[in-house]
Amino acid sequence: MTPPPDQPDSPGAPRFPVVVVGAGPAGLTVGNVLRAAGLDCLVLETESREFVERRPRAGVIEEGAVRGLERRGLARNLLERGQTHTECEFRFGGERHRFAYTELTGRHHFVYPQQFLVTDLVREYADVRGGEIRFGVRDVRLLGLETDRPTVSYLDPGSGGRRVVEAGFVAGCDGARGVTRASVPAGRARLARHDYGVGWLALLAEAPPSSDCVVFGMHPRGFAGHMPRSADVTRYYLQCPPGDDPENWPYDRVWGELRERLGAAGAPPLNEGRLFERRVLDMHSYVVEPMVHGRLFLAGDAAHLTAPIAAKGLNLALHDAFLLGDGLVARCTKGDGTGLSGYSQACLARVWDDQEFSQWLAEVYHGTASGDPYRAGAALARMRRLFSSRAAAGEFAERYLGIRTGG
Ligand code: APR
Repeated sequence: MTPPPDQPDSPGAPRFPVVVVGAGPAGLTVGNVLRAAGLDCLVLETESREFVERRPRAGVIEEGAVRGLERRGLARNLLERGQTHTECEFRFGGERHRFAYTELTGRHHFVYPQQFLVTDLVREYADVRGGEIRFGVRDVRLLGLETDRPTVSYLDPGSGGRRVVEAGFVAGCDGARGVTRASVPAGRARLARHDYGVGWLALLAEAPPSSDCVVFGMHPRGFAGHMPRSADVTRYYLQCPPGDDPENWPYDRVWGELRERLGAAGAPPLNEGRLFERRVLDMHSYVVEPMVHGRLFLAGDAAHLTAPIAAKGLNLALHDAFLLGDGLVARCTKGDGTGLSGYSQACLARVWDDQEFSQWLAEVYHGTASGDPYRAGAALARMRRLFSSRAAAGEFAERYLGIRTGG
């Protein structure tokens, strides 16, 4: 079979049982699971190692995801250095309402900045488990996904030449702006998208957290969020018009709005500090169905994006990676394909559950400032039920913590 024109002749191309595209939490977890089973794996990443190990993203990890990492020998630093949270706080109508979810469920959240987790996963994969990883690659292309010998090619950062590798399977873990999702031919997958109609100004402040827990502020001027990241860094969000320009948010305006929207009786003052990240998120979500095409298996943001409403993105990426890694190991070491054949359906059940929960919670966050008195009244009713009905509180706690019935 003559190779396609843009695919140099690949006889003698190195062959890996699995090639992973993307070195984020999903791709690195898949790589580590494969290496633990003694399988060769190649991870391809566009950015440098230094960049991915410093890139701040999410930071709230569900206990189920932590236990999954722990069972795979990937949670040592997280368990040593991560913080545990047992409650969160809602502020609306000038009042503070603590929600003690650990009291209700016995489970808690871990707080561990995503870049620390990525650093741990890269180190474990490359330096401890001897996994192959190439940073700084360009123009990754997938071919032959519907055959049993797909190829992955990329421009080598050193030589600039195109390198070709053969893969038994390809794990598409290249996030929301990757190429693997686009490798699925039109009509072979459905993309479902939801726009929240608002923007969020995502901020990182060089300042200690202003509360011992995550705080959600529902205010007529818009939502505001406070998420501790570490002892000296705090994540804040401010609802803003979609497509707003971060330049419209100078330091004084940011802190003034945060004080206003997070203000409540008895609340301690905010710890101000330098804002070293200030970008406007286009608040939307999407889901690709199915998450599999031939020998390509999508995982994490490459398959589904969850706006940062309920801290689900990182947790879904990890759960996908556990299922995909375990399924690939079973298939490549024992010829057992059941994990892979059930992969997409198993992931999507959790994905859609978290998408629906995020949509429900987004209405609580944004209803007050929607300008629609009906939405504002309904949002407040949702809030009040959390604190008046034990059943409603229990259900919320389970969903917020990612607890699936049956464990
Ligand atoms: N080729 C190779 N690597 C790529 C390409 C490409 N064409 N495009 C993107 N990448 C890399 C990115 O540089 C990034 O390191 O793929 C990786 C994808 O990682 P994430 O975006 O972190 O996605 P994922 O592993 O699914 O984790 C989802 O990360 O984006 C956050 O908030 C999100 O917490 C969630 C988590």
